[in-house]
Amino acid sequence: PVIRLADYRPSDYLIDRVDLDVRLHPTETRITATLALRPNPAGEAGAPLVLDGDDLTLLAVALDGQPTAPGAIETGPRGLTLHQPPGRPFVLSLETQVNPSANTKLMGLYRSNGVYCTQCEADGFRRITYFLDRPDVLAVYTTRIEADRTEAPVLLGNGNPVESGAAGADRHYAVWHDPHPKPAYLFALVGGRLGRIGSSFTTMEGRAVEVAVYVEPGKEDRAPYALDAVRRAMAWDERAFGRAYDLDVFNVVAVSDFNMGAMENKGLNIFNDKYVLASPDTATDTDYANIEAIIAHEYFHNWSGNRVTCRDWFQLCLKEGLTVFRDQEFSSDERSRPVHRIAEVRTLRARQFPEDAGPLAHPVRPQAYREINNFYTATVYEKGAEIVRMLRTLLGPETFRAGMDLFFARCDGTAATVEDFLAAFAQVSGRDLTAFARWYAQAGTPVVSVSGRHDPLARTYTLDFHQSLPVVATEASAGAEPQPLVIPVALGLVAPGGGAVAARSEQVRDGVFVLEQESGRVVYTDVAEAPVPSLFRGFSAPVKLAHALDAGQRLTLLARDSDPFNRWQAAQGLALDVLTARARAGAPLEDEAGADGAALAEALGSFLDAEAVADPAFAALVLTIPGDQEVAQEIGANVDPDAIHRARRTLRRHLGRALAPRLVALRERLADPTEAPFSPDAASAGRRALRNAALDLVAAADPETGTRLAEAQCAGATNMTDRLAALATLALLPGEARERALQAFAQTYRAEPLVLDKWFSLQAMIPEAGTVERVRGLMRHEGFSLGNPNRVRSLVGSFSLNNPTQFHREDGAGYDLVAETVLALDARNPQVAARLLTAFSTWRMVEAKRRARAEAALRAIAASPGLSPDVGDIVGRSLAPA
Ligand code: ARG
Ligand code: ZN
Repeated sequence: PVIRLADYRPSDYLIDRVDLDVRLHPTETRITATLALRPNPAGEAGAPLVLDGDDLTLLAVALDGQPTAPGAIETGPRGLTLHQPPGRPFVLSLETQVNPSANTKLMGLYRSNGVYCTQCEADGFRRITYFLDRPDVLAVYTTRIEADRTEAPVLLGNGNPVESGAAGADRHYAVWHDPHPKPAYLFALVGGRLGRIGSSFTTMEGRAVEVAVYVEPGKEDRAPYALDAVRRAMAWDERAFGRAYDLDVFNVVAVSDFNMGAMENKGLNIFNDKYVLASPDTATDTDYANIEAIIAHEYFHNWSGNRVTCRDWFQLCLKEGLTVFRDQEFSSDERSRPVHRIAEVRTLRARQFPEDAGPLAHPVRPQAYREINNFYTATVYEKGAEIVRMLRTLLGPETFRAGMDLFFARCDGTAATVEDFLAAFAQVSGRDLTAFARWYAQAGTPVVSVSGRHDPLARTYTLDFHQSLPVVATEASAGAEPQPLVIPVALGLVAPGGGAVAARSEQVRDGVFVLEQESGRVVYTDVAEAPVPSLFRGFSAPVKLAHALDAGQRLTLLARDSDPFNRWQAAQGLALDVLTARARAGAPLEDEAGADGAALAEALGSFLDAEAVADPAFAALVLTIPGDQEVAQEIGANVDPDAIHRARRTLRRHLGRALAPRLVALRERLADPTEAPFSPDAASAGRRALRNAALDLVAAADPETGTRLAEAQCAGATNMTDRLAALATLALLPGEARERALQAFAQTYRAEPLVLDKWFSLQAMIPEAGTVERVRGLMRHEGFSLGNPNRVRSLVGSFSLNNPTQFHREDGAGYDLVAETVLALDARNPQVAARLLTAFSTWRMVEAKRRARAEAALRAIAASPGLSPDVGDIVGRSLAPA
């Protein structure tokens, strides 16, 4: 069934208080729920009470303490109906039974390595008890958890601990009370054998908070980084947004089986252990950065998501887009802002742009959905964050902050909408944000074309802007004719000889021109010499820029722009021009890179000489040419992944040859002193990133030297970042050395599932015929399991998303592998299966032969009996006529 935003109606009943008594048992967990209900004045009087339920065994029910009359209550596969509820407040008590050990969907109450845990967003609470499982029903929860003392010595719930004690000889209990009203999706409990590390934090309001991280016993030494990240996130949210924590405890629990990254349950965040556990020997710099970002993300939800929650799931971006924006700001403040901005944009382009260009495109606030779990997407999260960032650019930081303060103050304790959010900013700024709001409603990536003209006599420089908006007609979007968007263009002029141009323009305020109509013009006066325009500085809007900069202008920007993002963008643009031209021409592998490639190499050489040592992290990004998928996006239709791959290899080989002496010298210059202890800080990580980017280019040019260097680094590395980078370089060099190194790595880390994931993923990305067979072999490896989402994502997910030549193999073997895995997984874990299937969403872009194979694979899935609603939804939308 399709659920539509336009059909939203308030609930007919509200639940003020929930008392839960959960008696944990591996297969027969019993839950007594006592719900204090009342008719909602905003609902329909006398309507039946319809509670959601899924996979529950109902043992008992009572209304105001009395057994209900026969026929008064009806249960079905989707829930429970009380036909004639009292027209006044009443209490419904329900006893249900569930089997956590059989819960392979990892939604509701389940067990991960023997630890009881829950995941309730978006609609998992109905798998624990019958409930009004919708985010606009807010209740105060008290939870008593009881369990076997040896099986589950640690018992955690939402809110503050109230009491605990013995419950008979072998069992014990704990009571938790959460004073903040919340929707059911924020409920959580944990019970198990867990190690703990903790510390305390005093809020700016003077509240002493016990902060703790719980992990598998024995892994406590891998938890301090996450614990420290919590404390830094708490302090930052006070500084940056004036938001303080509001309970006496804040607990983070790491579990190894988890469908997503992590979950912001009130006072009890539950994490995929991949985003908690870190030690120099097992985690890379990227892992450390992700842990910091996701710890912060979940913590920030305490205000953007929990204190202010969402009225309905269409408003998901209200909490997710905003919270991603907040975690990105946090990481930018904690690390390097320009480097982090580039990373954000790379993710957006690699994940969100393709989504927005394919059959799964949807507005940041969808208008319809069948399965909400399929809308936790790059569009809702990443594009959602870009909208918030544009709002700040348009209003300026002070007004933006005032708007955030007003939003939090006004909507605290409520389930809000995007309109409520925008109303706060409209009020503090006195601006009409109606046109801006279209960003939430219109899917597709806008294209902004710009042309510049210098008039030497009038000494003016004119920029003409034009926006064109794709018409996206999918189930999730309204399909109406798109209206012009409000696009902030941060810009400036760069003199060809260097330096900023001291020009003025009436249309530009604080370095920003706002394109509000289909077309717009900026005129600069007092411009003596033709400048190079630097447009969308800092990537000020999530658009594609169509602007014919020639190579010379790009070289000027790379060398001289004051905006680091656009310097990086200039290098990317240069490389992308070379790659698309070559890929379109079919790109024979032995082709030399030509004059354009030589110019790029020279520019990168001068750049490295001047700046690599001063900012290695930035230099590593400049050295990294756009990936296969970005080139594919640029080409747009009839894509031949092999030709793109050949073009990239040729260019990388050429760059490696041209830059080799410098790269080797840089590697030595940036080496850490051998006795220095590992530090995951951004500067140290930046040096490692540049050293490893250099290694990779050297190897692309000279496989023999590359093999020798990488083998030595892989064996001798003192941290996982360098070891894995070397192994990744080796993985691209066919031969015995590679297989030896892979084997040694697996031997060393055979007892470390999270490290084996990296090993699975590297092999899944090998761009060679034979990888499909290798992946099939690895699926039988003792370290692999279809039951664990991290294993599936590392092996099959990496293959489908990050190995374009083999996923899109001409004979369809790559498609078949992924399709088979989706079907095998669907019976067990539909959410993860559906997510895996989204790799097919670019199928219409590839050339005809592959396209036919991909379509056949999708049709076979669609025709399979017993598909879950999750997979059914993705396959249905993927095949919908374009
Ligand atoms: N709210 C979580 C986060 O972004 C994501 C949970 C999504 N879970 C799901 N089953 N769809 O922080
Ligand atoms: Zn989130």
